[in-house]
Amino acid sequence: MSELKLPGIVPWGRRLSEYQAFFDLPDLAGVRVLDVGGGPSSFRGEAAQTGAHAFALDPLYHEDDASIRDEFLRTRRVMQEGMAHVQHRFVWSHYGDERRVAELRTQALELFLADRQKHPARYLPGALPMLPFADQSFDLVTCSHLLFLYGDELDTHFHIEAVQELARVGREVRIFPLLNLDGRPSSHLFAVIDALRQAGFCAQEVSVPFEFQRGANHMLKITRGWSG
Ligand SMILES: C[S@@+](CC[C@H](N)C(=O)[O-])C[C@H]1O[C@@H](n2cnc3c(N)ncnc32)[C@H](O)[C@@H]1O
Repeated sequence: MSELKLPGIVPWGRRLSEYQAFFDLPDLAGVRVLDVGGGPSSFRGEAAQTGAHAFALDPLYHEDDASIRDEFLRTRRVMQEGMAHVQHRFVWSHYGDERRVAELRTQALELFLADRQKHPARYLPGALPMLPFADQSFDLVTCSHLLFLYGDELDTHFHIEAVQELARVGREVRIFPLLNLDGRPSSHLFAVIDALRQAGFCAQEVSVPFEFQRGANHMLKITRGWSG
């Protein structure tokens, strides 16, 4: 087995410290942030504790806690076995081993569930390519481990629509990673960047101080107007 095969787009959530690393985030105090495809990540809750005005959106938020937990536990089994089989596809300096990754994902799930109990209005059930927000409602929109990564499930047309929608609601958008699940550069990236630039956005691949999936060490940063 040389591929990490997953049963579709799985709920596998990261912690704030991980988002900080792969999005190279500044201090978010006072920043209006939307995490699209937030899933069972604790980013929203942990960022809010640092003073961010943070929201998360995901179709998963239609589900109750028990079914999210069940789906997460199924994913954890597949992920732990999958990562162990294809260890060479990852750089282990950040996490050490697959057990530590699973531990962090479990912590994120528990923090997410507790935060959603406390702040249900901050978790919006919804799905790209349509976001229920006015233009430029957020200073920063993040999208982690959904676009580009699941490029076999989501086609180029979807990517273009989705990214333009992210850029409509956010003054700045950051997307990570830019590789497909098979570890190759996403075949959608060129068309997405081209469409964004034609629509007048500045879209740049920016290197970040993080690499887990081997070769995934760039994010796509989108801002309004050409800045270089
Ligand atoms: C691998 S998880 C990533 C979770 C989180 N962003 C992180 O990196 O920790 C991918 C998430 O994308 C969500 N998703 C799938 N299709 C989506 C869509 N069309 N719009 C928004 N989110 C979607 C899934 O429900 C899942 O929770």
